[in-house]
Amino acid sequence: MTERAIRFFHRGAVVEVTGAPATRTVLQWLREDARCSGSKEGCAEGDCGACTVVVGELDGRGGVALAPVNACIRFLPTLDGKALFTVEDVAAPDGSLHPVQQALVDAHGSQCGFCTPGFVMSLWACYERHQAGGTRPTRQQLADDLAGNLCRCTGYRPILDAGQAMFEASPRRVDLAPVAAALRQLAGHAPLGGAGDAATYHAPRTLDELAALRLARPAARLLAGGTDAALWVTKQMRELGEIIYLGDVAELRRIATDAGAIEIGAAATLEDAWAALAAEWPVLREVWLRFASPPVRHAGTMGGNVANGSPIGDAAPVLIALGARIVLRRGAVERSLALEDFYTGYMQNRLEAGEFVYALRVPRAGAALLRVYKISKRFDSDISAVCAALSLTVVEGRITAARLAWGGLAATVKRAAAAEAVLVGRPWDEAALLAAQAALAQDFQPLSDMRASAGYRLQVAQNLLRRCWLETRAEGALPATAISVWARTEAP
Ligand SMILES: Cc1cc2nc3c(=O)[nH]c(=O)nc-3n(C[C@H](O)[C@H](O)[C@H](O)COP(=O)(O)OP(=O)(O)OC[C@H]3O[C@@H](n4cnc5c(N)ncnc54)[C@H](O)[C@@H]3O)c2cc1C
Ligand code: FES
Ligand code: FES
Repeated sequence: MTERAIRFFHRGAVVEVTGAPATRTVLQWLREDARCSGSKEGCAEGDCGACTVVVGELDGRGGVALAPVNACIRFLPTLDGKALFTVEDVAAPDGSLHPVQQALVDAHGSQCGFCTPGFVMSLWACYERHQAGGTRPTRQQLADDLAGNLCRCTGYRPILDAGQAMFEASPRRVDLAPVAAALRQLAGHAPLGGAGDAATYHAPRTLDELAALRLARPAARLLAGGTDAALWVTKQMRELGEIIYLGDVAELRRIATDAGAIEIGAAATLEDAWAALAAEWPVLREVWLRFASPPVRHAGTMGGNVANGSPIGDAAPVLIALGARIVLRRGAVERSLALEDFYTGYMQNRLEAGEFVYALRVPRAGAALLRVYKISKRFDSDISAVCAALSLTVVEGRITAARLAWGGLAATVKRAAAAEAVLVGRPWDEAALLAAQAALAQDFQPLSDMRASAGYRLQVAQNLLRRCWLETRAEGALPATAISVWARTEAP
């Protein structure tokens, strides 16, 4: 419970909600309390997109940044000081349809209609972004924007047609000026919770406030995007107890690049973090776009992914291959360690009581040859069976350094020490490849589970090493697209 009203902008006015449990979801509030039942519940775990809404926040430049998120896994108090847009906001007050809606009607982009509000909101966010930038999305960009929206009856072709057609109508932008004014006024209120009261939900705004709260309440649950933690509530019916929300701490959301490193604040969104990494290493674009979906990436954080420590998380292999360090903070004391040394066992790490992840520091110099491969049952929005992040430094034909980081092969994301050892000092030729493939069997004895069998995991890992060699060998290197049946292609 929060000790004061949660205040946010919704449907043209600031609403105040009192007495809501801290883990009440935005979707529950919308459908059951606000009686805005346009947003639907399909899965309650961020997978189907039927509940997609758009959250607006001050962007620090006087405007409002809009981001699609899943209302089913977003806790209501995290909206404090922000704006919520739903499918009820899109049509004009006189009932005339927005270009997004009209295009879906005209292109026959809806049948049972259950998924449609979610598609409308993802397309609306895309529409606003492109109208603001004076750009038009390609069909592939539209498909990427809709990767978190499932439709089981219409088929995606008419929906993509609608996505393109909505830009042909006369523009109709949302007026964000009153929203920005309301959010500036809301920013004047004290944060929810605090060190000295009985509230069970705290939303500090500065790093020092967070550090003090964390020290005083080491048993409280840290909450970032909630894209892992909310599912413990919606799917496992767990109580989260006292919560410290990280999403309002501006210093934790910063991404800073200097000559030596990219520093990603622990609460920077996955979308912003992957964009910064892919700007430096374009080869990371595919794993960025295949990490969950836009609504999950706009809520979830890279710090949360790394702190949660799932052995099939996709950020850790990439960060470890790049030689990243994790920066931890406890009170005023900061320490950093190599990310691979952070994990001690299945979902176990070296965080001490009162400590939290502050940032990830990624050196810019590393990774001469870098390849990342994600193997999952579905191309978009799926969890990895195996994720390989392979970085090799080859000087005058010889491998001088190797960092082969793997997810899905052990209880933690882990480097392949034996395979790395056989590679270093040798030419990057097929004999080295075969030796490294054999050594992988020493490095890993994977488990079988519903995603893949042990035999499959090891075989695919060895095959990925071969694919890396085919793409990076000195002579006759193949472009990635030449051997990938799933290669991303820009449709006209
Ligand atoms: C539909 C769906 C698809 C997904 N797809 C993928 C995928 O493709 N690849 C993948 O790797 N993951 C995926 N995930 C998992 C999830 O999105 C990521 O793990 C995400 O990065 C978690 O970040 P968060 O901010 O939401 O963490 P939260 O859920 O807020 O927190 C997760 C855990 O980390 C702790 N924590 C958070 N921040 C800190 C901090 N700064 N210091 C210390 N502890 C902290 C929390 O206390 C909690 O224990 C998916 C999730 C969903 C729902
Ligand atoms: S209900 Fe399926 S993503 Fe929210
Ligand atoms: S129209 Fe039925 S699920 Fe999309």
